[in-house]
Amino acid sequence: MHRFLHITIGVALLFWAFGASCARAESGADAWLRYAPLDKSAAQKYSALPTSVVVLGDSPVLGSAKDELIRGIRGMLGRTLREEKTLPREGVIVLATLSALREDSPRLFEEADLREDGFLLAMEKIHGIDCLIVTAASDRGVLYGVFALLSKIARGESVSALHETQQPFAPIRWADQWDNLDGRIERGYAGPSIFFENGNVRADLARAGEYARLLASIGINGCAINNVNANPRVLENDFLPQLARVADVFRPWGVRLSISVDLSSPKVIGGLDTFDPADPRVAEWWRKKIDDLYRLVPDFAGVVVKADSEGRLGPATYGRTPADAANVIARALAPHHGIVFYRAFVYNHHLDWTNPKNDRAKAAYDNFHPLDGKFDDNVIIQIKHGPIDFQVREPVSPLFSGLEKTNEAIELQVTQEYTGQQRHLCFLVPMWKEVLNFDMHAGEQPSAVKDIVAGKTFHRSIGGFVAVVNVGMDANWLSHPLAMANLYGYGRLAWNPNLDSRTIAEEWTRLSFGNDPSVVQTISGMLLASWPIYESYTGPLGAGTLTDIVGAHFGPGVESSERNGWGQWHRADHDGVGMDRTAATGTGYVAQYRASVAKMYESLDATPDELLLFFHHVPYTYALRSGKTVIQHIYDSHYEGAEQAANLMQQWKSLQSRIDGERYEEVLKRLDFQAGHAIVWRDAVCNWFFQISGIADQHGRVGHYPGRIEAEAMQLQGYIPFEVVPRETASGGKAIECAPPAQKCSATFPFDGATGKYEVDVEYFDQNNGKSNFRVLVGDKVVDEWVADDHLPATKPGGDSSTRRRITGLMLRPGDNIRVEGVPDGDEHAALDYIEIRQSSQR
Ligand code: GCU
Repeated sequence: MHRFLHITIGVALLFWAFGASCARAESGADAWLRYAPLDKSAAQKYSALPTSVVVLGDSPVLGSAKDELIRGIRGMLGRTLREEKTLPREGVIVLATLSALREDSPRLFEEADLREDGFLLAMEKIHGIDCLIVTAASDRGVLYGVFALLSKIARGESVSALHETQQPFAPIRWADQWDNLDGRIERGYAGPSIFFENGNVRADLARAGEYARLLASIGINGCAINNVNANPRVLENDFLPQLARVADVFRPWGVRLSISVDLSSPKVIGGLDTFDPADPRVAEWWRKKIDDLYRLVPDFAGVVVKADSEGRLGPATYGRTPADAANVIARALAPHHGIVFYRAFVYNHHLDWTNPKNDRAKAAYDNFHPLDGKFDDNVIIQIKHGPIDFQVREPVSPLFSGLEKTNEAIELQVTQEYTGQQRHLCFLVPMWKEVLNFDMHAGEQPSAVKDIVAGKTFHRSIGGFVAVVNVGMDANWLSHPLAMANLYGYGRLAWNPNLDSRTIAEEWTRLSFGNDPSVVQTISGMLLASWPIYESYTGPLGAGTLTDIVGAHFGPGVESSERNGWGQWHRADHDGVGMDRTAATGTGYVAQYRASVAKMYESLDATPDELLLFFHHVPYTYALRSGKTVIQHIYDSHYEGAEQAANLMQQWKSLQSRIDGERYEEVLKRLDFQAGHAIVWRDAVCNWFFQISGIADQHGRVGHYPGRIEAEAMQLQGYIPFEVVPRETASGGKAIECAPPAQKCSATFPFDGATGKYEVDVEYFDQNNGKSNFRVLVGDKVVDEWVADDHLPATKPGGDSSTRRRITGLMLRPGDNIRVEGVPDGDEHAALDYIEIRQSSQR
């Protein structure tokens, strides 16, 4: 071949390969705002879209709205809108508040009744010219309207005859971040803080600005940026200008800045000898501090308070009430129209567990119900959706119907603290929907939680939704690419809690992965199935997430909740399981609900199975509605759940050619981990309950693991067996480790099955304090090797670190020697639990 041709073809091939991989690579940073090019036929629908844009007004928020519109249209339709200063002669997209529009055309949209943040999208003539109008009561509403318009186009919805008004369900739609000033994030699973590093606000706040844009696109209008376990330093004089910098990057997106404050600040940083809210000097300190803050951040939204909880100081120090504390700050904020979010998460974590009447679930109601009506109008009581703490399933907090003369907001958790920490797929929208739709029977009319928190039931002027989000510096914000469906879903529900889960899942999938029907169907199906799946292998029948509650809240730790003061008890003993919370014989918690709700939970028969163990202590042989006994349900649900988790991976694999490589691999990796970890959960929970109940699994699975070879039963060189604590977090309660001075160890066993193709699962422990190396050999041939370099939340072998490595399609013959070699690193001793071998076709 001619040399020139060679080079040309070579370059072309290179270009093609590079171009193709560029097209494929998606970090997830764009989230649901990808504005990916529409295919030709979809783009065709928008051929009549006006070619220019006019903005009436020039605020930063309107500027964002215009830039976003241009960016979105360019991305999706490949057209650049012309910016006009005045209405041109031909079709135009108009962005303007209603009042600005009416200055020009007084009779336009006379019937429109737009509340704060609501918007109207309409095709309408102005001076005889066809216009696509995005209008609202405020600039922020216009911005929301632009995002809604772009979302329609991205999802292929027609906009040719638009006339649509959208109003938010509640005024408060907030995101909270639990970021520490040193850059770590409490219960954050996606890298360090986007706001802080080394005790200061980051020099580069670009990500914070991008976050505000994401929040705005789903209607979130406020964000508290630091941990509720607040560092008093956040209010120090030299810190306030730093906060102002964050407010500056939020402002163009209509997101108002808030911070969490420590109630002891007047003493700790203010130089007073007290922080007693009743002391006039303390009131004066707050007043001055808040005034200073508003001088720098005129649109500051307000503060979040966690007090008398988990070691945080609060008004109880001085015998004062939460109302005393909230009001003193509220009065400092009131002249500036700021708000106090006072968290109802106030409880004693040194409860006497030997007293069967003690019950942490009662704390929020006990503390706040007596204070109803005592809070100032700019105080909102922020109530976690359940009475304990973001468990995989809880009943709704009785406090929602326990306050009638007090503003409320519901606190949800996007960051998956107890629901798999973004290592497991768990789409929480269906759970939140159940909570929001729950009728508290708090009056004559139905009184769903969503109506109460939005202020509708008791005619409160303010209230709404807060979610703890905890995005981090990870490019894709929440680490698991599919976890972003929770942030999106939260925003959509806060805007309109009447949207159904499927609609939200499909919207998100379309925006995040495109409109390919099988992609939309598969991913939204996976999302919708994921919470019940996670629940079925981690926390049956309302017992709470059976995780290590005194540790990372990640892997199994069934025993950890018992016999300590934290109050997350499930009270499992040899005969039965569950907390008796009835009024008749239990803690009396049930009586905190209004009569008809209390009646349901008081009765063993009327309590839904999924919350049975939250409300009642029953024998393991108690029969559920399904006819199964409680113990058999525990076994079955864990086996089914683990199988369904494995199936999620199969579903995902069906999309391989339809999704960009980067996100495909990222999700696959996590689903693979989840499938393995679900087995760790399954075995730990089933074995624990088998040990304590002594009742065998009817199907003979618990305690019997065909094809499993315990590491401690292998022929060991250098490796030493040890007991894993708690014992149920390792198979047979034991594992092996390659501890110093050993530098390399091996475990060998002969394969005694028939010749064939096998799947080999190696269960090892991947801690975050070392990077061990593993090799698997058959005879002297290396068949797999890897480094245990994940960052799981564990410094020792156990349920948090137990990880599966699967070797697929391995040919084995009887007599083959299988050897695992481990090379430890640091405090990670290449620990190994077992190997399980199955014929490939059996899976
Ligand atoms: C949970 C969580 C804590 C957090 C607390 C809160 O208990 O584990 O890290 O501080 O909730 O909501 O205040």
